[in-house]
Amino acid sequence: MSNFPAPSIFITGGAGFIGSALIRLLIGQGKWHIVNIDKLTYAGNLESLASVADHPNYRFTQIDICNRAALDKLFAEHSPAGVIHLAAESHVDRSIHGPGDFIQTNINGTFTLLEAARAYWLNLTGSAKDNFRFHHVSTDEVFGSLGDTGLFTEENSYQPNSPYSASKAASDHLVRAWHHTYGLPTVMTNCSNNYGPFQFPEKLIPLMIHNAISGKSLPIYGLGDNVRDWLEVDDHARALQLVFEQSAVGETWNIGGNNEKTNLQVVDTLCALLDKLQPRTDGLSYTTQKINVADRPGHDKRYAIDASKIQRELGWKPVETFATGLEKTVRWYLENSQWVSNVISGEYRHWVSKNYGERS
Ligand code: NAD
Ligand code: TYD
Repeated sequence: MSNFPAPSIFITGGAGFIGSALIRLLIGQGKWHIVNIDKLTYAGNLESLASVADHPNYRFTQIDICNRAALDKLFAEHSPAGVIHLAAESHVDRSIHGPGDFIQTNINGTFTLLEAARAYWLNLTGSAKDNFRFHHVSTDEVFGSLGDTGLFTEENSYQPNSPYSASKAASDHLVRAWHHTYGLPTVMTNCSNNYGPFQFPEKLIPLMIHNAISGKSLPIYGLGDNVRDWLEVDDHARALQLVFEQSAVGETWNIGGNNEKTNLQVVDTLCALLDKLQPRTDGLSYTTQKINVADRPGHDKRYAIDASKIQRELGWKPVETFATGLEKTVRWYLENSQWVSNVISGEYRHWVSKNYGERS
């Protein structure tokens, strides 16, 4: 049995960008005991959890969600009150260059986790069974691409266009079916693009900050007029907690910040912030580092979320505006260049063996 006082929850992908923000939020409150289940791919970084690593309510376990036997053992050990499932391959460009891992983790991994959760849940009784939740964390990219107008609602049909979004859509459908067919108490969230501290510098915002201050070019795909709807990661984490704790079974929720920006607007805003906070020594603006590169194949034109359901029914609204969130993010990257270097160089793996050798 777990040596935690109950209740505990499993968070998969907790060493990633959003999962680590959620764990830092929940551990700070002291209300939940967290078991972080993460394979530690290139995107998983325990350094993002340094602030909670020694907290008595936190455990890390290095497990692949495709490993059913390891999952079964963990369910038996900890008897969790629920699962918040974030583990995934998450980068569209990588999915274009190598879709296999996306099929394996996002589809087979979600299937394996659902089956392990179902087997565990079937043996629960009373309020533990009634209150169990399997919360699947997904993306607005499953809805496809919008034209110049309109917003994604929870009722939108699924039209995924990239290998990443297709694999996430498949996992969403599995979750829906496990609820509909087997009665597994699931909830699901579909969120817009996140940004904030601890994001792996392959995604637009951290990549541009890192390249700018490293004197590298800022590659804009196509014309830079594709639109994304940005949400600060801690606002997303707060929404995830609300849904996990309060949503009725079987519900889906769209989460977004109402911050539609073209990619060029994002990059220009980042350059202006960097010009203010860490000006180039030659006096030129960072915008001079922008270059246009070939467009991403199948590049979705526009994403935008209607988040009125979660605002109305659960009382969630973002704390950060795009201006405050982006400035906080740029300041964080400027102050944490070592984190970025460690992530990129693989140095954090040494950090893991040094700090977690006894736990693996
Ligand atoms: P991330 O790539 O930063 O982190 C993913 C984590 O999952 C990593 O720690 C990785 O080690 C782990 N992982 C990967 N494969 C695994 C496996 N087989 N077994 C166990 N762990 C594994 O991703 P993120 O940006 O934090 O996204 C988290 C979730 O939120 C994903 O499901 C993603 O689809 C979804 N999402 C992300 C965004 C965004 O803008 N980043 C927006 C909406 C939804
Ligand atoms: P990204 O952060 O990869 O998220 P997603 O593809 O899931 O929306 O990309 C955000 C937008 O930025 C997307 O329209 C592609 C664009 N982009 C660039 O123009 N240049 C880049 O180097 C990257 C990584 C993305």
